Amino acid sequence: MDAPYLFLFFSIITLLHLPGFCTAGDTITASQSLRDVNGSTLSSRDGTFEMGFFSPGNSQKRFLGIWYKSIPAKNVVWVANRLNPINDSSGVLMIDDSGKLVILSSKSAVVWSANSTGPARDPVVQLLDTGNLVLRDGNDGDSGTTYLWQSFDYPTDTVLPEMKIGWDLRRGLDRRLTAWKSPDDPSPGDFSWGLELHNYPEAVAWKGNQEYFRSGPWNGLRYSGAPEQRANPLFSFDFVNDEDELYLTNHLKNKSVLTRTILNQSNYAWERYVWSEATLAWKLFTTVPKDYCDKYGLCGAYSNCDVTDLPICQCLPGFSPKSPEKWNSMDWSGGCTRNKPLDCGDGDGFIKFGGLKLPDTTFSWVNRTFDLKECRAKCLRNCSCMAYTHSDISGPGSGCAMWFGDLVDIRHFEEGGQDLYIRMPRSALELKSRHWWEIAVIVIAVIVPASVLLLTCYYIRRWRKKPKEAKIDEGEKEPKNESSKEDLELPLFDLATITDATDNFSFNQKLGEGGFGPVYKGTLPDGRQIAVKRLSAISRQGAREFKNEVKLIAKLQHRNLVKLLGCCEGEEMMLIYEYLPNRSLDAFIFDGTRGKLLDWQNRFNIICGIARGLLYLHQDSRLRIIHRDLKASNVLLDEKMNPKISDFGMARTFGGDQSEGNTNRVVGTYGYMAPEYAIDGLFSVKSDVFSFGILVLEIISGKRNRGLFHSNQNLIGHAWRLYAEGRPLDLIDPCLDGSCILSEVLRCIHLSFLCLQHHPENRPSMASVVVMLGSEGPLPPPKQPGFLIDKNPFEGDSSSSKQELNSVNEITVTLVEAR
Ligand SMILES: *[C@@H]1O[C@H](CO)[C@@H](O)[C@H](O)[C@H]1NC(C)=O
Ligand SMILES: *[C@@H]1O[C@H](CO)[C@@H](O)[C@H](O)[C@H]1NC(C)=O
Ligand SMILES: *[C@@H]1O[C@H](CO)[C@@H](O)[C@H](O)[C@H]1NC(C)=O
Ligand SMILES: *[C@@H]1O[C@H](CO)[C@@H](O)[C@H](O)[C@H]1NC(C)=O
Ligand SMILES: *[C@@H]1O[C@H](CO)[C@@H](O)[C@H](O)[C@H]1NC(C)=O
Ligand SMILES: *[C@@H]1O[C@H](CO)[C@@H](O)[C@H](O)[C@H]1NC(C)=O
Ligand SMILES: *[C@@H]1O[C@H](CO)[C@@H](O)[C@H](O)[C@H]1NC(C)=O
Repeated sequence: MDAPYLFLFFSIITLLHLPGFCTAGDTITASQSLRDVNGSTLSSRDGTFEMGFFSPGNSQKRFLGIWYKSIPAKNVVWVANRLNPINDSSGVLMIDDSGKLVILSSKSAVVWSANSTGPARDPVVQLLDTGNLVLRDGNDGDSGTTYLWQSFDYPTDTVLPEMKIGWDLRRGLDRRLTAWKSPDDPSPGDFSWGLELHNYPEAVAWKGNQEYFRSGPWNGLRYSGAPEQRANPLFSFDFVNDEDELYLTNHLKNKSVLTRTILNQSNYAWERYVWSEATLAWKLFTTVPKDYCDKYGLCGAYSNCDVTDLPICQCLPGFSPKSPEKWNSMDWSGGCTRNKPLDCGDGDGFIKFGGLKLPDTTFSWVNRTFDLKECRAKCLRNCSCMAYTHSDISGPGSGCAMWFGDLVDIRHFEEGGQDLYIRMPRSALELKSRHWWEIAVIVIAVIVPASVLLLTCYYIRRWRKKPKEAKIDEGEKEPKNESSKEDLELPLFDLATITDATDNFSFNQKLGEGGFGPVYKGTLPDGRQIAVKRLSAISRQGAREFKNEVKLIAKLQHRNLVKLLGCCEGEEMMLIYEYLPNRSLDAFIFDGTRGKLLDWQNRFNIICGIARGLLYLHQDSRLRIIHRDLKASNVLLDEKMNPKISDFGMARTFGGDQSEGNTNRVVGTYGYMAPEYAIDGLFSVKSDVFSFGILVLEIISGKRNRGLFHSNQNLIGHAWRLYAEGRPLDLIDPCLDGSCILSEVLRCIHLSFLCLQHHPENRPSMASVVVMLGSEGPLPPPKQPGFLIDKNPFEGDSSSSKQELNSVNEITVTLVEAR
């Protein structure tokens, strides 16, 4: 008899005297079966997972699947016969006579079968605690890790911890995910995810046969395009890339946490959920694509996508749109081309770009032993090599990755991006170096004589004035001296206290993710509630300066500043703040529902409070702090809706650290930056005034400055147009509905235009702002504000010769030895 007939024969025989015995334990042996009609199930030993037949959603069809036993919503993590449903409840799962795992239906048709890698004398099916369904040889014992077959090799739409997504190259097995077609139908939809076998491999999500999202290559720490994969308290990742295997897997740090990642067809998203015991619900932990810039190739070649920018696609410096017409009508997919052709040969050089997601690696090449210099030399020798960088950044940086052909799908990250060295013709490099020299000459010509003069004046003054006065001077200028004797006053919390207070930085205590790291809520033993900010971005070297800074800032006290209670030094530095229950201002004003909770009186109060807080930072405190990142999400609200500015001084701290090269972060949020900062990198208290002006408009209108996305006009432009047309009240947030005192609103709008003047010297100081808010006298007429329309800062007014060297637009452009 031929094999298929033999098989059928045995199947029928088996079916005829089916063991009437159903399993309720945690294994199925050759003499047992799992039968839909009895509703029997198989559980994992620890009771986390359960397997059985089910009908998804509104469907009547039956499938064999695995789900969480204790969660009533029956979140199915794996489906066996997703391609071939059973129409009635006749399904049976069993081991057939050849030792294979099969599902049979009423007519003894084989609905599904598992390809085991070899025969077993004593085959046993077991559902492991990880949710992996395995077929193993019973003689191997429980602890065996060689399986004849395992469901983890055939994932459906869900990744569980310990599951490998990627390739077993020896077996040619590609473990990739495919979304369910719909909640009623587990058959494969058109959304899939897997690792691509490029020289520099990366994960790619496909929508049909269109590339939809790429993770970026694994850089030793994380996927280049997934800064959110950074160290977190819940899980860790392992990426394996050798001759035999290429995969990513994740491990739980606390085995009792439940987490799953699914591909969701309905919104084309990769979503990680974590089960919250507190709320008995799945909490969305991360989702990809996270924003518009994650869409594959949105900006075309040689173009940078930055969500904080408008338009979000910007040609890299030295490039311009291939088709300006399309580009201006917001179709960026054509990308950019070089302004000057490559010389191709020894004339070319490279420009370093920082903070990026590495481009598409379809045409890439990697050598893990090359250093950066060899990498550069090799890239330079091949004219189609367009860029290079370290392939691994887990240490100080090692290995070499190169790109051939156009560089596609580059985006910028505020934090966690990478350096990329992009090939440029000599002419472009020389142009830059001339700029650089020009600036050096200016610096030498201006700064040196100026400092000589200042020093002279200082010594003359010192010499003239009597020591008594000089002492007061020192006290004012060098609070650091003073603080050293007040060392004991520095509120230092020990790590154990903070760990306890935040329930070991438990996920449930997480309040959110700030610019510099996650923020947790905690409760001290004395009952005080605190917010703990873990600063992932601070290096060890920076720690001392950082502590000095914290000592100073901890002394700042004002009703409208969040109180810094102290700090704590663990593996990372942590800042301990007072806890404010009412979240940040942006959660209210930009939300149609919650916006109603803030009437005009509240909002006016908030505007005045922010103004007073800023005035204190600018003038009254000993430190004279420029906030540099004033925005709605940095204004927290206390239980009485009083505003408290947060994150002050941090900008200053990090700014100082930047020279050490350990952060590529440019402080500030583009939508709130003053023109002189965005274009020339100049910052003063008046730039904070500008940000304040934007904040006032946002509070009045309930709209984000960068929110008016398609019109290429921002909120300032919109407000000014309404003002110029004589209908400024049209700006008012509909949420305010009747609560407004129109004269106050008008005064605030008027005042915001004064704050938004293009030239810093035309803007009022915070002191004048506070006075103007509190009085009713006439205000000076405003001129047209700056930044009416968002423009590409790289194309900004050409009179500013420094613009290319400044870190504008949050890409840092640095010159690399131009030969
Ligand atoms: C399971 O169902 C079959 C067919 O209906 C029946 O013969 C058998 O006794 C049932 N077994 C158990 C354990 O209920
Ligand atoms: C279920 O019904 C469909 C359509 O009637 C048929 O194509 C399919 O083969 C049936 N499946 C089984 C397992 O009988
Ligand atoms: C079993 O192997 C065959 C041929 O190699 C393949 O077509 C089929 O998809 C495999 N089935 C499963 C469930 O992996
Ligand atoms: C692990 O998580 C569980 C449930 O969230 C918690 O009860 C337990 O204390 C955690 N264990 C550790 C070592 O953190
Ligand atoms: C997929 O996304 C939709 C829309 O966000 C959501 O309602 C649904 O619950 C998600 N599916 C799963 C399996 O989580
Ligand atoms: C990578 O570089 C090392 C040392 O320079 C060399 O021995 C090796 O052959 C290179 N590998 C490839 C794939 O070129
Ligand atoms: C440059 O690199 C490409 C891609 O690896 C290769 O096809 C081409 O032959 C190389 N050219 C030279 C001159 O080495």
